[in-house]
Amino acid sequence: MSSTKDDGGWKRFVWDSDKGELLGRTGGSWLKIIGFYIIFYGCLAGVFVGTIQALLLTLSNYKPTWQDRVAPPGLSHTPRSDKSEVSFNLNDVETYLPYTKALKDFMAKYNEDIQKDQMKFEDCTDSPADYKNRGDLESDQGIRKACRFYRNLLGPCSGLDDPDFGFKEGKPCIIVKLNRIVNFRPKPPTSNESIPDEAQHKVQPNVIPIYCTNKREEDAGKIGEIKYHGIGGGFPLQYYPYYGKLLHPQYLQPLLALQFTNLTLNTELRIECKVFGDNIGYSEKDRYQGRFEIKLSINSL
Ligand SMILES: *[C@@H]1O[C@H](CO)[C@@H](O)[C@H](O)[C@H]1NC(C)=O
Ligand SMILES: *[C@@H]1O[C@H](CO)[C@@H](O)[C@H](O)[C@H]1NC(C)=O
Repeated sequence: MSSTKDDGGWKRFVWDSDKGELLGRTGGSWLKIIGFYIIFYGCLAGVFVGTIQALLLTLSNYKPTWQDRVAPPGLSHTPRSDKSEVSFNLNDVETYLPYTKALKDFMAKYNEDIQKDQMKFEDCTDSPADYKNRGDLESDQGIRKACRFYRNLLGPCSGLDDPDFGFKEGKPCIIVKLNRIVNFRPKPPTSNESIPDEAQHKVQPNVIPIYCTNKREEDAGKIGEIKYHGIGGGFPLQYYPYYGKLLHPQYLQPLLALQFTNLTLNTELRIECKVFGDNIGYSEKDRYQGRFEIKLSINSL
């Protein structure tokens, strides 16, 4: 229809030379509006940055601010696979190579030669002892020393004498650690009530005991003897508390090695390991909180 007329109207809206208006406003009006928004957004940004700064001031570099709802520590183990399964054939090196390699890599962090520095490491005795207090997190003591943990504490599971970690002889080792939590002091059980009868003999001062047994009734009697190598057969208290990445960069978690010395062959066995302590709990949702389950099968055919 009258497209020329429409075009004229639109052009006049963009720049109306009669009134000196750009997009319907005069230059002065535009300046005011732009000025207003610059100040408005400036203030908004100021409030935003100010709030974040104020919040950061209340945070400590060292101590987690909200630790009232920290979950009890998880247990992790090596080797670990997606299906929590360790399954291999005694006659085929290839089937257990991934496990022994994982163990070898893991244990390298505990090599003796990297624990030499007297400024960074100290000896904390090889028998269970009380918590090693290295001052408050907030005190200005700086970097804390770490307790040494030598591989040979794990005996035949250290990988030093037996590079196959027992797998070749059908006596596989599994290495367990308690996940680190800053400023957490695991408390050993104070009573025997919450602990299964079979595990009660493991209760002793200054150790978080760990106990493994068959998960299913039908596996009873097929697991054979499980040996526990480490300090006090569990997690000794002198390695706690942990002061965090910044203050405790060399920290080594105490390890515990399980060695299954007489597993029934050619059967899938389910084993559950649990740690016990007054502030250690279990969760329906998190299968690694304070416990773990592993499927073991050694084939010989
Ligand atoms: C738990 O039981 C074991 C053996 O039955 C006993 O040696 C130990 O003293 C008991 N511990 C506590 C805290 O009652
Ligand atoms: C290994 O377990 C079997 C039963 O599964 C048992 O007969 C045998 O005595 C055990 N061997 C050792 C050394 O404990």
